[in-house]
Amino acid sequence: MSKRYTVTAALPYTNGPIHIGHLAGVYVPADIYSRYLRLTGNDVAFICGSDEHGVPITIKAKKEGVTPQDIVDKYHAIIKQSFEDFGISFDNYSRTSAKIHHDTASEFFKTLYDNNEFVEEVSEQLYDEQANQFLADRFVIGTCPKCGYEEAYGDQCENCGTSHNATDLINPKSAITGNTPTLKETKHWFLPLNKHEEFLREWILKGHKKDWKPNVYGQVKSWIDDGLRPRAVTRDLDWGIPVPVEGGEGKVLYVWFDAPIGYISATKEWAERVGKNWEDYWKDENTKLVHFIGKDNIVFHCIIFPSMLKAEGSYILPDNVPANEFLNLEGNKLSTSKNWAVWLPEYLEDFPDQQDVLRYALTANAPETKDNDFTWKDFQARNNNELVAIFGNFINRVAVLTNKYYNVVIPQPAEFKAIDEETLAAVKAYPAVIASSIERYRFREGSQELMNLARLGNKYLADEEPWKTIKTDEERTKTVMFVALQIASALAVLSEPFLPFTSEKLKTILCHSELDSESTWEDISTKDVLLPAGHSIQTGKPELLFSKIEDETIQNQLDKLEASKKANEAANKKVEPQKDEITFDDFTKLDLRVGTILEAEKMPKTKKLLVLKVDTGIDTRTIVSGIAESFKPEEVIGKKVTVLVNLAPRKLRGVESQGMILMTEDEHGNLVFVNPNIEGVTNGLKIS
Ligand code: MF3
Ligand code: ZN
Repeated sequence: MSKRYTVTAALPYTNGPIHIGHLAGVYVPADIYSRYLRLTGNDVAFICGSDEHGVPITIKAKKEGVTPQDIVDKYHAIIKQSFEDFGISFDNYSRTSAKIHHDTASEFFKTLYDNNEFVEEVSEQLYDEQANQFLADRFVIGTCPKCGYEEAYGDQCENCGTSHNATDLINPKSAITGNTPTLKETKHWFLPLNKHEEFLREWILKGHKKDWKPNVYGQVKSWIDDGLRPRAVTRDLDWGIPVPVEGGEGKVLYVWFDAPIGYISATKEWAERVGKNWEDYWKDENTKLVHFIGKDNIVFHCIIFPSMLKAEGSYILPDNVPANEFLNLEGNKLSTSKNWAVWLPEYLEDFPDQQDVLRYALTANAPETKDNDFTWKDFQARNNNELVAIFGNFINRVAVLTNKYYNVVIPQPAEFKAIDEETLAAVKAYPAVIASSIERYRFREGSQELMNLARLGNKYLADEEPWKTIKTDEERTKTVMFVALQIASALAVLSEPFLPFTSEKLKTILCHSELDSESTWEDISTKDVLLPAGHSIQTGKPELLFSKIEDETIQNQLDKLEASKKANEAANKKVEPQKDEITFDDFTKLDLRVGTILEAEKMPKTKKLLVLKVDTGIDTRTIVSGIAESFKPEEVIGKKVTVLVNLAPRKLRGVESQGMILMTEDEHGNLVFVNPNIEGVTNGLKIS
């Protein structure tokens, strides 16, 4: 029975590109679900957009010396492109900086305000005296009051997932200056979650939500059981949607208040464009609302947003929130800041045209019930042993043999044997089997069932051996090829949610568009014939759907990961605090000159010291330098260096050192010369 669905996928923060964790946790499952619903004749609005407010974006902007708008413009474009590239079939991909969203979120806030759904309260909030600003959300880090994790943010602990108020943090520190914040009074509007506790309890715990995934249900239950408290939904920040009521000047909506409303504004934007009524998708009890998210978003989608929708009064509530656990990468937590990730734009550069391979590997190994690990070895195995050896091999054999034996025209089958009947009957069962997996949000199971269908085809060919019977029994061969072609056709349709690019290619190979009517999902189980005798498939050598991935390719990816981790560690090295202030006169006392190392030898019986002869332009003098662990004597001869020439001489191992050579470190922590590496600079020039 056809139904109306609003399917949402968490709005990604636009402070970086997206990586495989996002794809596996949210966007691929949401896309499989939406494609499946459309294929089975439902009315679907698949909605997403960029989450462009919030503190991480302002932090990133500050770091790069640009405006927050610059940051969101940049990443909105990159993220949107990645989704298109990977076939994520959103009906609308909007953004929360859009006017329609600002209007929708403001209006939503005003409605709750007018209905007295907020508690207005002046309270003491964390404040950074040095930065001159209130510390909300990611501007403050401290110990989680619930689990003891020491790097929890002001609004949420990423370790245990709980959301709290910033003042709940134990031992809070400003993320801007590192200072311990003070308390300062400010007015905010709070959503009294405690007031909605009874409703939540009824709706989730006593309602029909027992069929929610155990990880989701369990988390929500424990929060409700712990007791809910009012949560501030406004912030003293300058990046966000202005608080649209009296007294709200200089304040913005909390990003987690505005972002989920983004689902609504994106639906409005889409409905206007295609001539639909958005309210059908948000206010009709017959519409099924499903939120795809990662587990760190559970509290917002199962407690806070439903409370907002309930308080507003005219909206439907989510039917399900199939949150996934986290995906790790090669045994470590995926991390944007540590650059431990496989970024989608980079994947596509390295594996052009292989989106379905990643979609498949991520689905087959999706973190549906527990955290899971992505490894490049597994990726290679999924490709080589399943996509290439089973799916691709089956299709290639069918296409090549049809071409060779029948000049691409599907043969008239002779009499069906039991094995043929059984095989065709087995194919007919697949739509229901895969549908059941998808409808229960078990996408890994669904992807394995799809592969089982290809396995069935492969086994059928291997058992019936048309390449042998062609010499002995032409009629039998026609029947076998006819049956195999029906399986191929079923694969073309049933693979679409999981492998949309492959499905498209396969339909082209089988010339699906030349059929009187293209097969639908339902046809696979109801029609006896999908590709009729006499129908021609594509001529010529069929395109290979998948190709083998070599060990070397995988090793390159592992090396790349290792290298980016190292580079990042170096870049994140702690910068030492600034030393005490000096006067200009103090500075001019230093006599720094350009020099050249003329000779170098190791100081006997030491590990670290080199004895250098340096031309300072003034004279040639001896300098003892602690660089022997980084340089061999022959490597430094001829190097241009910076020399502090008026340092009081001192004896090292009996050798008088008459100055000092300035050094620093490169990104890997190796010593390098601070050298005036400029053409034409001569020894003795002053550096000032
Ligand atoms: N930007 C959030 C994140 O990446 C998700 C926002 S989902 C929405 O964790 F509901 F707020 F839209
Ligand atoms: Zn915690």
